[in-house]
Amino acid sequence: MSCIVIVGAQWGDEGKGKFVDVLTEKADWVVRFQGGNNAGHTIVVDGAKTALSLLPSGILRPGVKCLLGAGVVMNPSVLISEMERVRAAGADTSPARIVIDRDAHLVLDYHIAIDKARERARGSDRIGTTGRGIGPAYEDRSQRSGIRCADLLYLDRMKERVRAHVIEKNKVLELVLGSESQVDFEALWSTLEQEAAILAPYVGNGSKIIHEALRSGQRVIFEGTQGVLLDQVHGTYPFVTSSSTIAGGASVGGGIGPRMIDSVVGIAKAYTTRVGEGPFPTELHDATGEELRSRGHEFGTVTGRPRRCGWLDAVALRRAVRISGIDNIILTKLDVLTGLRRVRVCTGYKRGKEVLDDLPALVHEYEGLEPQYLDVEGWDCDLAQVRRWEDLPATLHTFVREVSRLVECPISFVSVGPGREATIPVDVHPVVAGFVGAS
Ligand code: IMP
Repeated sequence: MSCIVIVGAQWGDEGKGKFVDVLTEKADWVVRFQGGNNAGHTIVVDGAKTALSLLPSGILRPGVKCLLGAGVVMNPSVLISEMERVRAAGADTSPARIVIDRDAHLVLDYHIAIDKARERARGSDRIGTTGRGIGPAYEDRSQRSGIRCADLLYLDRMKERVRAHVIEKNKVLELVLGSESQVDFEALWSTLEQEAAILAPYVGNGSKIIHEALRSGQRVIFEGTQGVLLDQVHGTYPFVTSSSTIAGGASVGGGIGPRMIDSVVGIAKAYTTRVGEGPFPTELHDATGEELRSRGHEFGTVTGRPRRCGWLDAVALRRAVRISGIDNIILTKLDVLTGLRRVRVCTGYKRGKEVLDDLPALVHEYEGLEPQYLDVEGWDCDLAQVRRWEDLPATLHTFVREVSRLVECPISFVSVGPGREATIPVDVHPVVAGFVGAS
C-alpha cells in the first residue's frame, strides 16, 4: 500500500497538474478530493498542452484510474465536455476507468447564478471567485439540501427537489441579491436528464473502492486543487475557496483514514502568485512583477485573469507546511527566475519593532506590514536542457537550500520547464520515489 497526497502549498497555480502527472508513472489511482471546476490544471505531454478542471490529472496516463471523490462538487456539463475532449485526444474515458463518488455534490445553474450575483452585490468587498458556483454548491451541502451524484440514479425522486431549489434560488437572486438573472427549471431539467443518462454508469462507492485498492497494495495519489492558503478554514479567510484544500481534506473528501496517508507533497512555485482578491504581503507592483507574469505565463487557466505576482514568501510557505503536514516540497518554475540579478525570499514581516513569523488572522492586520527579505544572487544560464541537480548553477543551489532551511522541509524535486522531462530530483522522499520508479 502506498498513498500520497499532493497539495498546492501557496495560493494555487503552483504547477500541481504537471507533478500529479509525473508521479502517475507508477500509480494505480488518482483521486480528486475537493473543489470543482474552479480548478485548472495544465499538463504538457510531448509538447501538447491539455487544460483540465474536473478530471484528475492522471487521465492522460493510460491505465491509471481516476476518482472524483465525495468532497468534490461536480458540474455535469463541464465533466461531460471534458471527457469528450480527452477522449478525442485518445484517452479511455469509460466507467471502467473513471468513477464519480456517489456522495459528491452537483453544481447546477442556480449555483453559478448565485455566485456571480453575490460577487456583484459585494462590490468592492468581492472575493474574486471564479464564478463557477463552487461556494453556493458547498453552502447547499452544509445546509443539508444539496443534490448528490447518487441522486442522478433516481431522476423521478430528484425532479421535485431540483424544482424547489430553482424556486428558492430565483427568489434569492431577485429579492436578496437584486439580480435580474433567473434560472429556467424546464431548460435545466431537460439538460440534466440527458446528462444523468450519460453519467449514471460512472457513479460508484468511491471511498470503498479506494480503501480496497490501498489494502490490495495499489498506489494512490490524492490530488489537491487550489492551494493550502486558500483553505476555507486555515487560509487567508475570507479570501479563500469553500473547500478543505489542506492535506487533511484528502481524508475528509476521499473517505479514507488519515493514517493511510504515507507522504504529503507540497508543490510550491519559486515565486508567489495569487488570483482574485486577498492579502499578499510579497506582491510586486513593479516591473519585476510584470516580468514574472509575462515570463511565467501567469494568467488563469480557468478564467484567463492575470495573476498577481511577487517574491517567494517563506513565512506563508512554512505555514502551509505546518497545516498540511507537508514532508517534502517540489519547487517549480525556477526557469522563470533566470536572468534576474537577485532573487528574494521573504523571511518575516515587520510591524513596528515586532517581526511576525506567521500570516496574521485578520485582513486589516496586513496593513503596513513590511516583508523582510533574504537576497540570493541570481543565475543567467539556460536551464531548459539541464536534467541533473549537479549541473544547475551554484546560485540556484543556494536559493533552493535557503528555501528548504527557511520552511523547514526537504525539497524532493525542482522543475525547470513545463514538460514531464524538465523535472530534476534533489532529495527525493522515499515514498515519492516509489511513484516515479526510483525504488
Ligand atoms: P472560488 O473557489 O471560485 O469560490 O474562488 C475563491 C477564491 O479562490 C478566489 O480568489 C479564486 O481566485 C481562488 N481560486 C479558486 N480556484 C483557484 C485555482 O484553481 N487556482 C487559484 N486560485 C483559485
